[in-house]
Amino acid sequence: MSALLEVRDLVVEFGTEAGTVHAVNGVSFDVEPGEMLCVVGESGSGKSVTAMAVLGLLRRPPARVSASGIRFRGEDLLAATPDRLRALRGDDISVIFQDPMTALNPVHRVGKQIAEVVRLHRPVTRKQAWQRAVDLLTLVGVPDPDSRARQYPHEFSGGMRQRVMIAMAIANDPALLIADEPTTALDVTIQAQVLGLLRKAQRETGAATILITHDLGVVAEMADRVVVMYGGAIVEQGDVTTVFAAPRHPYTLGLLESLPRLDRDTEELTPISGSPPNLVAPPVGCTFAARCPVAAGRDRCVTERPGLVPLAPGHASACHFHEELVMAR
Ligand SMILES: Nc1ncnc2c1ncn2[C@@H]1O[C@H](COP(=O)(O)OP(=O)(O)O)[C@@H](O)[C@H]1O
Ligand SMILES: [Mg+2]
Repeated sequence: MSALLEVRDLVVEFGTEAGTVHAVNGVSFDVEPGEMLCVVGESGSGKSVTAMAVLGLLRRPPARVSASGIRFRGEDLLAATPDRLRALRGDDISVIFQDPMTALNPVHRVGKQIAEVVRLHRPVTRKQAWQRAVDLLTLVGVPDPDSRARQYPHEFSGGMRQRVMIAMAIANDPALLIADEPTTALDVTIQAQVLGLLRKAQRETGAATILITHDLGVVAEMADRVVVMYGGAIVEQGDVTTVFAAPRHPYTLGLLESLPRLDRDTEELTPISGSPPNLVAPPVGCTFAARCPVAAGRDRCVTERPGLVPLAPGHASACHFHEELVMAR
């Protein structure tokens, strides 16, 4: 059985005045049908660029994208025409961004915008599409959907707008949903509601979901599997239970240590000190070495870039000294 989405050796660079930004350096992962895959990492780790590359949404130039394969249901997306990619987006693959205001048209009624997405990909009448829009608003828990459908985006709160985005994203029963920090701009309580709704939407449509977040709390809440990114590369991946119980990369461990836990005082929280690598002049060795307690005093971490090595089926780490992390927590 092959994966729904296969990404192999994805490299993305940006030509800028300051030099070449090595944003994504050889990222490979699979997404299986129906699973919730969370991609987590600090700001600047290459999460969004990875997603945009898969979606074919990076402007080239300044971006340069290469890979040994980006395949969706076996179809080579790297070789796909812009028309083909447009047809896939909004139909088989849909996307939700952090800020719904940029994705919604301020001058059109919300119902009309959802209906348009339906009509673009399905042979339905205007009336049927409008009814589908109202049904979708009902599904995503927008109260009074008949009259809300006739309103404009500015008449919706941030949380309600994100519900509209989810309605639009699932309008055509996608096989793959990519949500990039969909709740980052929302209040904590609204965040929880929207995440719950995303879960519900995923269950109803059976869509595999790539949920991008910088928040490990969201990962704990949502993920089946997790990909941890740092400095443009995957440093650890595995099923969420394994990675949380037995992280095998110092960066993952650092993220976990900075997560509030019920069995600890908040004062004990230890954020990872230092800052992410300069992606214009990335280090030769491990990108995390400068911040890594395990790397302290060790040449190998500075001179040799560790590759992602399998530890157990489905679990992999890119640390030379991952064995020292067994039972570290
Ligand atoms: N258009 C661009 N031009 C130059 N650099 C970019 C561009 N887009 C993203 N980057 C850089 O690529 C790196 C990864 O960015 P991004 O994927 O957005 O990070 P994340 O989503 O993990 O916060 C960052 O260093 C960012 O500054
Ligand atoms: Mg991002």
